[in-house]
Amino acid sequence: MERDKCLYLFSGTALIIILFTGLAAAENYPKAKEFRMERGLAEEAKACIECHRNLNPGLFADWSRSRHASANITCLDCHLAEEHDADVAAEHYKQYQRSDHPYGTKEYKVPISAVVTPKDCSRCHPDEVTQYNRSKHANTMEIIWKIDPWLNKGMNADIERKAGCYHCHGTILKTENGRLDPMTWPNVGVGRVNLDGSLGSCSSCHTRHRFSVSEARKPEACGQCHLGPDHPQIEIFMESKHGSIYTAFKDEYNWDAAAGTWTPGVDYRSPTCASCHMSGAGKVMTSHDVTERLSWETQAPLTVRPQDFKPFPAKTDWKVERDKMKEICMQCHGKTWTDDHYDTLDRVVENYNEVYFKPAKKMLDTLYEKGLLDKSKFFDEDLEVEYYELWHHEGRRARMGAMMMAPDYAWWHGFYECKNRFNKYMKEANHLLETGAKAHVYTDFPSATGNRTKPEVIFGKK
Ligand code: HEC
Ligand code: HEC
Ligand code: HEC
Ligand code: HEC
Ligand code: HEC
Ligand code: HEC
Ligand code: HEC
Ligand code: HEC
Repeated sequence: MERDKCLYLFSGTALIIILFTGLAAAENYPKAKEFRMERGLAEEAKACIECHRNLNPGLFADWSRSRHASANITCLDCHLAEEHDADVAAEHYKQYQRSDHPYGTKEYKVPISAVVTPKDCSRCHPDEVTQYNRSKHANTMEIIWKIDPWLNKGMNADIERKAGCYHCHGTILKTENGRLDPMTWPNVGVGRVNLDGSLGSCSSCHTRHRFSVSEARKPEACGQCHLGPDHPQIEIFMESKHGSIYTAFKDEYNWDAAAGTWTPGVDYRSPTCASCHMSGAGKVMTSHDVTERLSWETQAPLTVRPQDFKPFPAKTDWKVERDKMKEICMQCHGKTWTDDHYDTLDRVVENYNEVYFKPAKKMLDTLYEKGLLDKSKFFDEDLEVEYYELWHHEGRRARMGAMMMAPDYAWWHGFYECKNRFNKYMKEANHLLETGAKAHVYTDFPSATGNRTKPEVIFGKK
């Protein structure tokens, strides 16, 4: 399914000159632009631009201001498909049978796809895509289908998943009669499973059609998914000193530094999510694999090393990765400061694992064993919800708050809540053990109708 777009790549001396005239056509439209295209540009590419600039002025304006436009990368370079591709937009052929548009005729006809995947970007950005492919971002659909009770026990409806879970994690794209299935599209989740077999959507951080690095360097780009009761990283960041410095000084930061040159201390005075997790610094190279630089797997119920995370063991060595992260810190901090921060973090992990998680898990297993809790479903008995929230909500907040320097999350939203939850949970559990009464089951659990079959494209046929 290799797409042959090279023909159109950098075609000759083709050059698009975009002049900003500053003339506003009407109040609510982007500024009108006058632009010229050199003759060398492929005619089919001109057609896309000529037709779509009027059709979608917002889309056109975005593209025309991107690095891509100035490097002469056109619509065709990304959207061109082959006729037999699964994601080809069948209805688009009709655009070349129009008498009302000079470019709406058959000599410009090419197959296109609305979906532009990491595989398409990889022609020009192979390293970013290779790194991305190893990441948990790219592989999240496999991970969540291995471990998540909402999915495996069918506890939510397909539409709840589409509007919720999959919006962040990604959908498994499907077409029906040449049209993208609306239960899977639109979507730019991090682990979207594309019809060409590739994983992810680069626009989850670099929104189209600007595709800018400066956007992805800002914490808000990550915060669209990394927020809320179960993984409040953006809230944690904004609470930390790093976040408060970002708020105070972000206007002075040099967000547009060329790729690979963004330098702590020079271009910014406190780190963002990207600085710590992705961008290069010192000897540490930029990476599109966010699992790098991590020494713990704190999303999981029991905190383990990333290589011991069973559903998707990292191929990293946690000590090496920890040293990489420390090197980032030490662009601005001394060694003792950095080492002592990690000492805190390790103790927090141990405290959570030993004092809160292990006893709660042991109790849950006992109740299942004795038949006091029913294993066939999840979330339909209070103790299951309590157990879940202990690790998934407050337990994560405690660990993540400590890791990223947010004391309010480590304590008030974290360990403080863990204590309350733990006490209530143990009280209810002990009551069942003492009386031998079975837990109340919510038999009318709403919308527990979701498909429970593990997706074939990932797991193969059952
Ligand atoms: C003669 C006008 C015309 C030309 C030429 C044209 N398009 Fe379109 N295109 C349209 C219209 C109209 C639509 C909206 C149809 C619809 O409602 O989805 C569209 C839709 C699209 C979509 C969305 C398709 C979907 O299924 O959601 C993409 C992507 C696209 N065009 C890209 C291109 C590219 C790339 C080219 C050049 C190879 C191109 N177009 C050439 C008129 C045109
Ligand atoms: C660098 C690659 C790239 C270039 C260049 C590019 N696109 Fe896109 N386009 C994308 C991506 C990525 C998406 C988002 C779809 C996805 O996530 O698969 C998209 C989406 C679209 C859509 C559907 C968006 C919507 O909101 O309905 C249209 C239409 C479209 N592009 C047209 C164009 C046109 C016209 C041009 C040229 C002016 C162009 N694209 C240039 C990558 C590109
Ligand atoms: C707002 C975006 C968003 C929504 C909605 C969302 N998630 Fe997540 N999910 C995330 C993020 C971000 C993480 C990573 C958390 C972390 O590392 O702290 C995550 C982590 C997970 C994990 C843990 C993966 C691991 O490696 O341990 C599972 C499982 C999961 N989500 C399943 C789901 C399911 C199922 C739903 C819907 C019922 C859902 N998520 C809804 C963003 C979201
Ligand atoms: C999780 C967010 C995220 C996703 C998803 C993402 N990027 Fe990036 N990307 C970044 C950040 C942050 C930078 C800036 C690195 C720096 O500071 O130089 C960047 C930089 C880049 C650059 C500039 C060169 C470089 O490596 O620094 C390219 C090219 C790029 N990304 C392509 C891609 C492609 C292709 C994909 C899809 C496979 C993708 N990105 C997906 C966050 C992301
Ligand atoms: C035909 C080649 C080509 C394709 C396909 C392509 N790019 Fe690019 N991309 C480039 C070139 C050339 C640059 C400009 C590099 C520069 O200015 O130094 C660039 C720059 C970028 C940058 C850096 C922008 C900045 O602000 O500095 C990002 C991010 C990026 N591309 C993402 C993508 C994504 C995501 C896709 C797929 C949806 C994609 N590119 C597809 C050639 C391509
Ligand atoms: C579109 C949603 C989305 C965006 C945007 C996003 N992430 Fe994520 N991120 C996720 C999900 C979902 C997971 C959980 C993957 C899993 O473990 O299954 C995750 C996991 C992670 C992890 C944990 C990896 C691991 O190995 O445990 C890190 C670190 C991370 N993201 C950092 C970032 C950073 C930094 C950015 C911004 C530059 C970002 N993310 C942007 C959805 C997103
Ligand atoms: C000062 C550097 C720094 C900043 C800024 C930062 N982080 Fe972190 N982050 C860390 C450290 C350190 C860890 C724990 C690393 C380890 O496991 O050793 C971590 C852990 C994480 C994890 C947990 C991964 C896992 O599976 O255990 C996620 C997810 C994450 N960060 C996302 C983000 C997001 C999103 C932002 C911005 C809103 C952000 N981080 C800002 C340093 C930072
Ligand atoms: C770009 C520079 C920069 C980087 C990189 C950086 N920091 Fe910071 N950090 C700062 C500045 C500036 C402060 C504010 C110091 C003060 O309180 O005066 C700070 C504050 C802190 C604080 C104090 C928080 C508080 O509320 O008292 C801790 C802890 C910390 N950083 C740890 C880290 C760790 C760990 C890393 C790496 C994972 C890191 N920093 C990366 C610049 C940086």
